[in-house]
Amino acid sequence: MEKIVQIQDVTKVYEEGKNRVVAVDSVSLEVKKGEVLLVMGPSGSGKTTLLSMIGCILHPTSGDVKVDGTSVAAMKERELPDIRKRYFGFVFQSFNLFPSLTAAENVEVVLRLKGWDRARLKKDSVGLLGRVGLERRAGFYPRDLSGGEKQRVAFARAMAGDPPIILADEPTANLDSKTGKEVLGLLKEFSQTAGKAVVIISHDPKAEAMAHRTVFLEDGRLKQ
Ligand SMILES: Nc1ncnc2c1ncn2[C@@H]1O[C@H](COP(=O)(O)OP(=O)(O)O)[C@@H](O)[C@H]1O
Ligand SMILES: [Mg+2]
Repeated sequence: MEKIVQIQDVTKVYEEGKNRVVAVDSVSLEVKKGEVLLVMGPSGSGKTTLLSMIGCILHPTSGDVKVDGTSVAAMKERELPDIRKRYFGFVFQSFNLFPSLTAAENVEVVLRLKGWDRARLKKDSVGLLGRVGLERRAGFYPRDLSGGEKQRVAFARAMAGDPPIILADEPTANLDSKTGKEVLGLLKEFSQTAGKAVVIISHDPKAEAMAHRTVFLEDGRLKQ
């Protein structure tokens, strides 16, 4: 399988005053197209920090992340949003939907950021909600959706614009077991039918069952 992300000896140090935390310590890892990679590890082991560096939300302190062959270390901070838009869809534990926007509008926001015209983004946002089984909830606000439905909207949003990589940070942590299973099923389907790379952080045994590969982080280091 072809590589889409290469993480090369990446370290992230957080420094605030006298406090210095090495959150991720010399990690090297590759993510291939079409694979579901699971990252496990105890709380505070650096999982979110690692995912944020993969997704070009955070700049590594040292080391490099290559996205589709492009080196992120060499880029300026202002160039990162463009890489994020082109390559990544994000799913978070707490859904992160805009409360004042409908399900469809939450998806449209992303398409708008990607520069799509109005007519196309209206049609596509409903199409994307259809793919997660929520066509009939397009006009609902987050407060009127269940946890599982909210997470499915977040998925539709992550898939908007067809990014090659989906990053999911504990996507089932706030869901009941059955709903969590549905959401993980959507992720797997997405990787298989659309050939996407999926990196998922989870403690969920169901995630372990569906992942192609699992890696473990402990104190910021990859356990071999
Ligand atoms: N913005 C930040 N500033 C300072 N320290 C942070 C920050 N984010 C995370 N950390 C610290 O880095 C370590 C790893 O955090 P994190 O990546 O969130 O771990 P995980 O997702 O595995 O729980 C923890 O010790 C955490 O307290
Ligand atoms: Mg975390």
